[in-house]
Amino acid sequence: MTIPVLIDCDPGHDDAIAILLALASPEVELRGVTTVAGNQTLDKTTRNALKVLELADRTEVPVAVGADAPLKRTLRTAANVHGESGLDGPDLPEPTTKPVDGHAADLLAEWIEPGVVLVPTGPLTNVALMLERHPDVRDRLDRIVWMGGAIGEGNTTPAAEFNALVDPEAAAAVFGSGIPVTMIGLDVTHLALFDSSHAERLRVSGRAGKAVAELADFFLRFHRQRYAFDGAPIHDAMAVAHVIDPTLVETIACNISIETQSQFCDGRTVVDRWSVTGLPENAEAGVDVDAERFLELLVARIGSLS
Ligand code: BDR
Ligand code: CA
Repeated sequence: MTIPVLIDCDPGHDDAIAILLALASPEVELRGVTTVAGNQTLDKTTRNALKVLELADRTEVPVAVGADAPLKRTLRTAANVHGESGLDGPDLPEPTTKPVDGHAADLLAEWIEPGVVLVPTGPLTNVALMLERHPDVRDRLDRIVWMGGAIGEGNTTPAAEFNALVDPEAAAAVFGSGIPVTMIGLDVTHLALFDSSHAERLRVSGRAGKAVAELADFFLRFHRQRYAFDGAPIHDAMAVAHVIDPTLVETIACNISIETQSQFCDGRTVVDRWSVTGLPENAEAGVDVDAERFLELLVARIGSLS
């Protein structure tokens, strides 16, 4: 059975690749893309989402624009990781389409029906706004698979991952909503590095593959300079991959709370791995991944796009 998915994102190199993976995979049907401010400002992330659909010749997938700032905080972007455009590297086709009318928070609520999986790959602002404006969504949405957070490390502060840190209040609202959330965090995304051999295979495939290779050129350079990684984690694509094939990422059921008031640990996803608090399990956290199978899936699927 095909799983309908909605991707709420801030493209972003890995968000773009996540969208392409969904479009290339028969196990899922991408019903809509919503945009949020995160890696770059909202105008840029929206433009980038439209460009990615243009690249894949899938402009019939609706794009809805969401929040231009976190719920309570000033927006922090990641231009150092994704460049000024948010998708630096390739020359992507100019969008020929526009976003649909309406706010992402309202359209997500309209598009969510039983069976739909919501895959946020950016700060959780739109999802939190949706829950605030449309509390009835809780009864229809049985699953969120979010790329963000971490059990054991941070990439924006020592304690926090980028998507969690940009809007911790939104993350707290989503994890406290009662909707089961699967957290695909840095603990697993950092285990699967997309390297230049993957990029070279895609460079000689279709138009989308070539664009992904050029995205990877930029993204790999950052990860080499910043982390001395011999490749780049394609974080957001792993969340989509987990919906496509749930055997790729191993998860554990646990309680996850979000720190919103701390000098050093703001935005930390506090994972009670050993149930020391006795708080109810509200999430699944990724703890391991079959990296080779994930990367092979990614290359094969993106390479199959014409
Ligand atoms: C997350 O932060 C963003 O820069 C990426 O797109 C990904 O969603 C990784 O920490
Ligand atoms: Ca992202």
